[in-house]
Amino acid sequence: PSNHTEIFNLWYIRLSCLCLIGATQIACVEVKALEDLSAPGYWVAETPALGGGRGQKRHLVPWELRLLVIRLQALSFSDWRRALVFYYELAREARMELGRAINTKPNPDPVVIKLWKSRLKDLSIRVASALVEMGDFAAAVRHLESLRKTGGGGEVEAEVVEEDAKVRFMLGLLYIRIGNFSAAKESLPPPPQPASPKPSDNPPTHQTAPTYFYTDHILTSLLPTALGLWEASITAWSTPPPSSSSLHPPPSTILERHNLAVSLVYTGRLSQARDILEDLLEEGNAFFALTFNLCTLWELVTDGDVTKDKKRDVAEKVLAAGGRREAGAAWFKM
Ligand SMILES: *[C@@H]1O[C@H](CO)[C@@H](O)[C@H](O)[C@H]1NC(C)=O
Repeated sequence: PSNHTEIFNLWYIRLSCLCLIGATQIACVEVKALEDLSAPGYWVAETPALGGGRGQKRHLVPWELRLLVIRLQALSFSDWRRALVFYYELAREARMELGRAINTKPNPDPVVIKLWKSRLKDLSIRVASALVEMGDFAAAVRHLESLRKTGGGGEVEAEVVEEDAKVRFMLGLLYIRIGNFSAAKESLPPPPQPASPKPSDNPPTHQTAPTYFYTDHILTSLLPTALGLWEASITAWSTPPPSSSSLHPPPSTILERHNLAVSLVYTGRLSQARDILEDLLEEGNAFFALTFNLCTLWELVTDGDVTKDKKRDVAEKVLAAGGRREAGAAWFKM
């Protein structure tokens, strides 16, 4: 390809694929070639033919690639402060573009306006992630809480409700991570009540309860686990999410089953836990926590050569499941 749009698009696809197959380190090396994307060389003056004019400039690199480059460069330099600066720069640009779209005469394009609005929202989530990576949890909490303060009243679009559920999930995880369990609990909407057979004393009001999403179910289940309330945790992870909950309903319940197994270990039900973890591996799942926990379990219940055999068995299954990196990892010692 000879034009920059195609080249950058292909580059974006390549880098995304590298990240998806777990070769983020290669992507980090390759992305160094792009150097500083905020450099003047990456900007071109817009011609009236492109719909611009008045000396406006446009960035040569597609938005998605710019975001990916910021993340990958932050990873390779372990410098999230730098990423934060770039995110703020992009946010300034997005706000400017949004203003430009709104003031387009005679007819502002609602699609373009929506695009820049969603990019701005996406950037604020990325800022929160960068703050977490930097270990500045307090700032991340403040930032996410400010995002939750949605305007007062009025009808709320489904999209806004979903956005808020995403922010709520991040905030909840963050609260659990920093050990503020009461705040985590308070951020959750009440789970939907199963329809009760007896007539309710309180007739339903017109005020609709906040939607209870799948992510809320995960947080609700995570709380007892984080608090070490293992029996409650076992109950929570054994309970399927309410059928009404949406927002990326899970393709399977790998996470739930894995966490259930961990809770079972803490209550001494080792064989039950082992069965669940073995099943997960047999089904072709391979991820760090699963492999690690299964090997630890075998170490707990077996000795000497038996342990070695069992761990070799796990390694073979991990390999068969495509977990090449898992088996090759330094911690995976026989
Ligand atoms: C937990 O978070 C809430 C809400 O941000 C805050 O008001 C409270 O002070 C926090 N509690 C602790 C112990 O940090």
